[in-house]
Amino acid sequence: MNKIVFKQDLAPDIKKIVLEAPLVAKKVLPGEFVVLIVDEKGERVPLTVVDSDKEKGTIALIFQEVGKTTYKLGELKVGEVILNLLGPLGRATEIKKLGTVVTVGGGVGIAEVYPVTRAFKEAGNSIISIIGARTKGLLILEKELRRMCDELFVTTDDGTYGRRGFVSDVLKETIGSTKADLVYAVGPVPMMRVVSELTRPYGIKTLVSLNPVMVDATGMCGSCRVSVGGETKFGCVDGPEFDGHLVDFAQLEKRLNLFSEQEKRAMECFKSKGTEG
Ligand code: NAD
Ligand code: FES
Repeated sequence: MNKIVFKQDLAPDIKKIVLEAPLVAKKVLPGEFVVLIVDEKGERVPLTVVDSDKEKGTIALIFQEVGKTTYKLGELKVGEVILNLLGPLGRATEIKKLGTVVTVGGGVGIAEVYPVTRAFKEAGNSIISIIGARTKGLLILEKELRRMCDELFVTTDDGTYGRRGFVSDVLKETIGSTKADLVYAVGPVPMMRVVSELTRPYGIKTLVSLNPVMVDATGMCGSCRVSVGGETKFGCVDGPEFDGHLVDFAQLEKRLNLFSEQEKRAMECFKSKGTEG
């Protein structure tokens, strides 16, 4: 259990691993996540389940090496085992036939958009996907998404591939010319905020998948709280998806930056000494 059976570099600092996790593979639904503890001293890392195979009893995860724990995870080799795996957690995406669904993925958020896009396609929706990265080498899952989308648009901030600009530039044109029944967006907070502001005047239902800081991931500690429509919600048990028109993105951003100094120091220490920092 929890053994890595496949590992792939998708882009610099972005890796895919496939793990033996038969119980999770059997139950997991699009939008749900797992929490990993890499070793005895490891923090908990929440990661969306990107893919699963019930027959083989495996799940696929994609992560960006952004801090000490994700670097440690990235250092594990095929055959090695992750200490603990908890899940599936969170509320699954409500998948139904709506008409036209526009999925928007920014950077590593594309990994989260992928299983939801596939599920909406399988439910009979017409799918327009818009994915973007800072530069060509950071773009992930283009081929896989192209296979399941009716239309796929690609952007890079620097214009090295696809259209130059942000995913939101393409979304603006898309919702101006096509009737969209749902927009589903995952990526950096500023991107999800902009997407939600673009769809608001059109009244298009917009779901965003948030990544607040999580500790216990069971609704007990409160670290993942987010303000949605003036109410406090917990990302781990009430989310991770919320109505983008109701999310207080400014507060989310502030809370995400709360531990950035400590994270930076732990990372520097880990890199320089290879210790626990
Ligand atoms: P990034 O900064 O490279 O941005 C990716 C794309 O998002 C850009 O190419 C652009 O198209 C769009 N974008 C960025 N800023 C924008 C803005 N101001 N307006 C409109 N569009 C904008 O993203 P990255 O480095 O891959 O992602 C890093 C961030 O995303 C991290 O903060 C990470 O925590 C977050 N993230 C969130 C989730 C989630 O569940 N919400 C999942 C994965 C990553
Ligand atoms: Fe503790 Fe959500 S992570 S309540």
